[in-house]
Amino acid sequence: MSLFRKPIRHWIQRLLENTILKKPSENIYRILGGHIYFQTMATAVRLDLFSLLAQRGKMTLPQIAEAVGIQEKPARIVLLGCTALGLLRKRGDRYRNTWLAGRLLDRARPDNIIPVVLWQHFINYRAMAHFYEAARSGSHTGLSEFQGPETTLYGRLTHHPELEKIFQDAMESISVQSNRLLAEAVDFSRFQHILDVGGGNGSNIIQLARRHPSLRATVFDSHSVCVLARAHIRDAGLADRLDSIAGDAFQDEFPAGVDGILFAHFMTIWSEAKNRELLRKAHRALPSGGAAIIFNMMQHDDGTGPLSAAMGSPYFLTLATGEGMLYTCKEYAGWMRDAGFSNVFVHRLVRDHGVILGIK
Ligand SMILES: C[S@@+](CC[C@H](N)C(=O)[O-])C[C@H]1O[C@@H](n2cnc3c(N)ncnc32)[C@H](O)[C@@H]1O
Repeated sequence: MSLFRKPIRHWIQRLLENTILKKPSENIYRILGGHIYFQTMATAVRLDLFSLLAQRGKMTLPQIAEAVGIQEKPARIVLLGCTALGLLRKRGDRYRNTWLAGRLLDRARPDNIIPVVLWQHFINYRAMAHFYEAARSGSHTGLSEFQGPETTLYGRLTHHPELEKIFQDAMESISVQSNRLLAEAVDFSRFQHILDVGGGNGSNIIQLARRHPSLRATVFDSHSVCVLARAHIRDAGLADRLDSIAGDAFQDEFPAGVDGILFAHFMTIWSEAKNRELLRKAHRALPSGGAAIIFNMMQHDDGTGPLSAAMGSPYFLTLATGEGMLYTCKEYAGWMRDAGFSNVFVHRLVRDHGVILGIK
């Protein structure tokens, strides 16, 4: 005799939960537990679990716990989370990486996204708990998590070299992949000298210079970032064609003598008014026939997504500057025309990116 009753209502509900409600129900869990799921992945990344499994193939719980140096109980919790999230697969008592984890979270792969995970964890995570206050006040209240008198995250990171390194490593990880799209989409052979405004550690211009043997390029960024860029350029053996100039894109004029001014992953940081100011300044600095180039992840013109824009925009509001977001191609193109650029071209790319190129 069964100890359980089986009300028809429960049976129907289970059927629904396993069929048409499965997706919405998983969706609400992913949203509700987003912070926990992120921490599950970040913990596994910091334990270097995915690199371990990439090397060793399949492993049991006791083997994993011993290899990463934690007790079996917490290891079991991490493994449960990673398996439910689709980062690990469990067959019998053995775990292995899924394709996704092996592809993105194994340290040995040159295009892993571990620097992005560390940036999210060490810089963005605490700050994003301030999103509500940021939305109420329209300012980046999350910046209070970092000490310093400056008004932007970039300024404050200059006081925290270890965090600035984490930040720049993440930017490089994102940019190396996406800037390849820029290099493929724009014919840089028509330029003599590019100014890369907010060019970071120089990885972007290094990539462009490798493709175009006569191209010169200059990073224009804060003093401490230019130090990183110079070292990077020197290590790449390109110091004869690439350099960096320390400056503030709002306080200083852009240096003369360039025929292309690139804003890569830069305009999302600022308000519409400031971006319009930057484009007017670029127009003043460029010779006739020169071009301004905006390269970024883009929001759909109709404001319906994509998820990358929905993830990035709160970061700019809550932490980075309190004024930026991911704008649409249509907005950028309009600002360029208003700044005086006569021929404006919009090119949509994969990975939610787009390029807007305006010729003076
Ligand atoms: C999001 S990162 C983009 C880096 C790089 N362009 C890329 O595509 O990966 C923004 C960069 O802008 C720099 N930055 C922020 N404010 C700036 C300012 N007022 N003037 C010049 N550079 C600035 C930061 O130091 C940082 O390197």
